[in-house]
Formats: sequence, structure tokens, C-alpha cells
Amino acid sequence: MKKPQSQILIIFGASGDLTKRKLIPALFDLFQQDLLPEKFVVLGASRTMLSDEEFRKNAGVFLPSGELTESFNKNLFYEPVSPDHQADFEKLKTRLDQLQKAYDLDPNYIFYLSTPPAVYDVVAKNLATAGLNKSMKYFRRLIVEKPFGMDYDSAKKLNIDLMQDFEEHQIFRIDHYLGIESVQNMLVTRFANGIFEPMWNRNYIHRVEITSAESLGVEGRGGYYEHSGALRDMLQNHLLQLVGFVAMEPPVVMKADAIRNEIVKVFQSLRIIDENEVEKSVIRGQYISSTIKGEEVRGYREEAGVDPHSRTETFVAMRFFIDNWRWGGVPFYIRTGKKLPAKVTEIVIHFRQVPHHLFTNAELSGPIDNQLIIRIQPDEGILLKFRMKTPGAGFQTQTVNMDFHYSDLAEIRLPAAYERLLLDCMHGDATLFSRSDAVEEAWKFVQPILRAWKDNPEIPVYGYPAGTWGPEVSNNLIEEGEWRYPCKNLSNDGTWCEL
Ligand code: BG6
Repeated sequence: MKKPQSQILIIFGASGDLTKRKLIPALFDLFQQDLLPEKFVVLGASRTMLSDEEFRKNAGVFLPSGELTESFNKNLFYEPVSPDHQADFEKLKTRLDQLQKAYDLDPNYIFYLSTPPAVYDVVAKNLATAGLNKSMKYFRRLIVEKPFGMDYDSAKKLNIDLMQDFEEHQIFRIDHYLGIESVQNMLVTRFANGIFEPMWNRNYIHRVEITSAESLGVEGRGGYYEHSGALRDMLQNHLLQLVGFVAMEPPVVMKADAIRNEIVKVFQSLRIIDENEVEKSVIRGQYISSTIKGEEVRGYREEAGVDPHSRTETFVAMRFFIDNWRWGGVPFYIRTGKKLPAKVTEIVIHFRQVPHHLFTNAELSGPIDNQLIIRIQPDEGILLKFRMKTPGAGFQTQTVNMDFHYSDLAEIRLPAAYERLLLDCMHGDATLFSRSDAVEEAWKFVQPILRAWKDNPEIPVYGYPAGTWGPEVSNNLIEEGEWRYPCKNLSNDGTWCEL
């Protein structure tokens, strides 16, 4: 693969958690595979006063020790910068000039905004004032972390603010779910195989189900989560992106805008849920204390930084429709939650049943519809469930599995989401980043739900014991059938399941 051009990656908010947990390990993995530009440095920038050496130590806590790490560390530098202090951006500019000369780099810059969202626009403005947003000859890119806005209005405003100084093609809005290999594989599954696409529509698909479950709770992020909740934190972005990939029309070419145009069309076709329908179509829940594997587990309201009377949802499940030619009348069910029994994300395509049942109920066991399960994580893979005759007398039938696990491709290592996305941005490929119109359309869809919850406190927040699959009422959303209850291992389902 061709290496990206020589460049500098500037990380704002570099003393934070994301840098050491995700960004630096992703860059290290790219370094190890020799995928980074020939000439490349990283400049950490945040309020904290740190030397280059201290930054290397803090940011590299999750790297292995050894020679490779030492030579990787030589590419890391640090400059204290307060996002709202314009003078610091002049210092930043001088430092960039110095690094560029010392390491014979081209002044191509990627600015990664990993700061609190409240200062995204401030950083962009200060970069522009220092003349760092544009160059005739070199690229200037901005990666913006989530959350991109807190509602439709703030997302729109943020787009407008950023686009005062940066153009759309310079802005890379990150959604790390798009960096996941198995999410991208959905495009290949759908559009490189002749067998799925002819059936991928309302004529053959009965319903689509998406689950993104987490076994962890809010893990010290109570302060942030209180103002976010599952709808904003997971559904508006990650889950709707998955919906976009499942439901989109085939793009004309595999190019960023061709793909992103199709995703926007899906979002534009989402049927807006009327405020008075919200209680019926959207279930919110919050985990309460319980005992998991003999251990006492705190409820959400007992977590640090959380209001003891909080009504923030840690679980959301909903039913909705996509009003277009392909999906007319097909219900989509999506759910996400914290402190559920397993960490798992998957998409289940339920096919319509046969038009005439030759085998009586007594001869059928297990779900009778065919299901295609696209496992996003963990145990990435694909599972097809179909019926077979149980050997022996009569016509007893049973559901069997045909499965593919990525781990079977033993020599292939799945790149981490951030690794893929950082490399794409270095190459200037925006395919897997959200475009401004898509972000706004996604907010338009969730906005009436946020409004209904705010205006109608009587809409229940159902408690569910930590370690269970969320409020029982979420089962009533599905009119015909039930949720699939996934396990850690893709094909270990049925009666036994390791959690
Ligand atoms: C983040 C959310 O965007 O995604 C977290 O803020 C969540 O609350 C995380 O835990 C889930 O990502 P993943 O890759 O672990 O499924």
C-alpha cells in the first residue's frame, strides 16, 4: 500500500484518555506495520504543562516496552496549548515550523480535536486566526471527535461554525464504528455477492434488528453520561450508521461521496416518530443495582458523578420505519444499553417465512424464520440460520447454523477502528467519516424523542437489574417474533450461552 504523504498530526486534548487508550496505540500499530508516512511526527497539545519526554511516558502507557516503542517515541512531541488562548496558537505555529525544519517534513497538518466538545469551534477559530487552516499547496485537515452536537440545533451550529474556516472536504467527523472491519465488510457482503442483494428488500425481509450491548457501566464517565444518555451516546451516531450501511442503495462507485450520498438518503427516509408516538415506539431504561456472578453491582444512580434522582437512560430500544421503495413497511428494531449481559454488537436480518407451511408445528423446533446475522463484535463473522430435516423417521425439522468467523482467516489481523480511520484521514479518504448533512439528518430523527422525553416526564424510565437484557417491556416493541439474545460466541446460541 502506498504510504501517506509526509505530515504532522497535532492532537488537541492530548493529555486525555482517548490519546493514551486509542490514538497512540493505533499510531503505534501503524508504525509497526510500516504504514505511517516516511516522514511523520505527532505533536500533542493540551493545557497540561508537559515536556516531550513526559508526554511520551504518559501517552505510551499502553504500549509494550522495547526497542520498537523507543524508536516510535522519537516521533512524539508536546506543546502546552490552551484551546481558548490565541497566543498559544502562535507558539504552536512556531513549534510546527521548527519540527518541520528539523525533520524535513512538509507542512501538511491534521488537527485532531479530542478536547471537550464545547471548545471544538474555539480551536477551529484559533487555528484560522493563526493562519493554520488553509494552504495553497499543502493539506490542512480537521478530525472532530464525537459527540458532534447535543441536538439538532447545536450540531447545525457546530457545522456552520467549523465551516467558517474549514471546508467540508477538510473536516473528518469521526464515528469509530465505521472504522470497524466488520462494518465495512457489510458493503462487501451486500455488493460483492450475487445471492444477497436480490433478497435485500421488503419482499423477502420481514424485519431488521440491531443490538449493541455493553456489559460495562459508565466507568467513571458519569459526569459526561448524565448529559448524554444512550440515545445521544450510541444511537444517534453508531447505531444509525449501522442502519445506513444495512439499508443503503448500492453506490455507483466505491468513492467517499458516492457512499455518503446513499447513507444520507437512508437518513432522509427515516420516518420521524411523532412526539405522541414516542412512548409506544421508544423504550428507555436505567440499570439498577443487582448481583452479577455473586458480586454486588452498583446501580446507575449510585455511580460517581450521577444525580441520585437521575432519569438519564442507560438503555434505549426502538421501532421505526424507513419510508422508501426498498424498505416500505419493514420494521427496524434497534437497542443499546450499558450493563447488559454481554458485550456484543450485531445485525439480524429476519427473512420472511415460507408462504405455505408443509410441516406442522409439532415438527418444528427453534425459530422458524431464516436469519442472517452479521456480527460486528466480538467474534466478528456471519451466521446463516436455516432449517434442515432431523435425520430419522417422519419430517422433524430443526434450525442449523452455517457460520463464518473472521478468526478463521488465521493469518489476517483485524485492524482497530482508530487505526483504520487515522490512516484513511492521512490519505485524505473521507469515505468512513460522517458528512455534515448526514450528521444533521441523524439528529433530525432523534430530536422528537429527546423533546418528548423532556416535555413528558411521565414517559417511564424503566429500571432493569444490571446484568439483564434491559426492561422487559422492550420485548413488546416487536409485534411478531422476539429479540435475538446473542452470546459472546457468534454461533453458540440456542439454549446454552456463555456470558
Ligand atoms: C463510545 C461511547 O462512542 O462508544 C461509549 O461514548 C461506548 O459510551 C463506546 O462505551 C462503545 O464503543 P465500542 O467500540 O466499545 O463498542
